[in-house]
Amino acid sequence: MAEQEAAARAVLVVGGTSGIGLATARRLAAEGARVAVAARAADRVDAVARELVDLGATDAVGLVTDLAEPGSAAGAVDATLARFGRVDVVITSAQVMAYGTVEQVDAEAFDRVTRVAVQGTFELARAALPALRRSGGGSLVVVSSLLAEIAVPSMSTYCTAKWGQLGLVRSLQAETRRERDLHVTLVLPGAIDTPIYEQGGTWAGRRGHAPPPVVAPDAVARACVRALDRPRRMVHVGPANRLAVAGFRLLPGVYDVLAPVLVDRVVLRGPRVPDDPGNVLAPRADREGERGGWRWWGVRRRR
Ligand SMILES: NC(=O)c1ccc[n+]([C@@H]2O[C@H](COP(=O)([O-])OP(=O)(O)OC[C@H]3O[C@@H](n4cnc5c(N)ncnc54)[C@H](OP(=O)(O)O)[C@@H]3O)[C@@H](O)[C@H]2O)c1
Repeated sequence: MAEQEAAARAVLVVGGTSGIGLATARRLAAEGARVAVAARAADRVDAVARELVDLGATDAVGLVTDLAEPGSAAGAVDATLARFGRVDVVITSAQVMAYGTVEQVDAEAFDRVTRVAVQGTFELARAALPALRRSGGGSLVVVSSLLAEIAVPSMSTYCTAKWGQLGLVRSLQAETRRERDLHVTLVLPGAIDTPIYEQGGTWAGRRGHAPPPVVAPDAVARACVRALDRPRRMVHVGPANRLAVAGFRLLPGVYDVLAPVLVDRVVLRGPRVPDDPGNVLAPRADREGERGGWRWWGVRRRR
C-alpha cells in the first residue's frame, strides 16, 4: 500500500465539482491518483471527494476554495501538500459566466467573473509552481476557452476574463520555459455539455444556450490528463475551434457581421427572463454535475 501511495499522482483540481473539472477528477481517480477537489460549495466538495474514493482514488479530500478571495488558492495548495505530502499536478477548471453587453452586465458580476479567471489563476500559479518544484516537478493545467482567442457580443465579461487568462498563462509559459520538469498547459474547449450555461448569470434578457457543435466534458478531461504526460502549450478541444479562430483573425469584417447573428439566434434564444446572477456571486451546488444535458446540435434534453 505504501508503494502504491508513493506512485499515485497527487493532484489538486480547482473547480472539480462540476462539468470539465468533475470529469477530470473522475478520470484521475479511476487511475488511482490522490485527488484534492476544490470549489466554493462545502457539501459538494465533500460529496465529490467521497465519490472519487469509490471510483478508485488512492485518497481524496474536499477543499472549500474561492478563487475570487485573496489567499484562498494558496490555502488549497497548502492543504493538498499537507494531505498528500506532495503536489504533482494542479488543474484549474474553475469559472463563472455572465451574459450581457458591457452596458447591460452588472458591474459586480464583471468583477467576479474576471477575478476568478485572472487574479484566481495568478494566485493559484504563484502558490502551485513552488509546490510543484518542491515535489520534483509537475504540471499546471489551466482550462481556458475558445473565447480566449475570439470575441463574442453579449459575452464581453467572459471574453475579457478568458483573454486575460490567456495572456497570463502564455506569459507564464515563457517565464518557466527553461525549467524542464515544470509544465504549464492551456486547454481551450469550444462548447461543452456542462451546467455552466444554466449556471451563468444573465443581464441580457435571455438565458445562455450551448452553441453547436457541443462536445462531452470527458473529451476535455482526456485532453487535460493527456497533457500531464505529453505537455503542450495550447490544446484546443472542439471540432469548430480552428475555423472560428481563423474567421476571427482572417476575415474580421465578415466575422463581426456573423457573430451577433449567431448570438441572437443560437446563444441567447428563447423566452425573455429577468436579470439573474446565476452562480456568479454564490454557488448553486444543486445544479452541479458532470453534464448539462446538451445534445451535439445545441438542443437541451428534457429533464
Ligand atoms: N462548458 C463549456 O461550454 C465551456 C466552453 C469553453 C470553456 N469552458 C471552460 O471550462 C472550465 C470549466 O467549465 P465548466 O463548463 O465545467 O463549468 P461548471 O460545470 O459550471 O463548473 C465550474 C466549476 O468551478 C467552480 N467554481 C466556480 N467559481 C469558483 C470560484 N470562485 N472558486 C473556486 N471554484 C469555483 C464550481 O463550483 P462552485 O460553484 O461550488 O464554486 C464548479 O466546480 C471553465 O474555465 C470554463 O470557462 C467551458
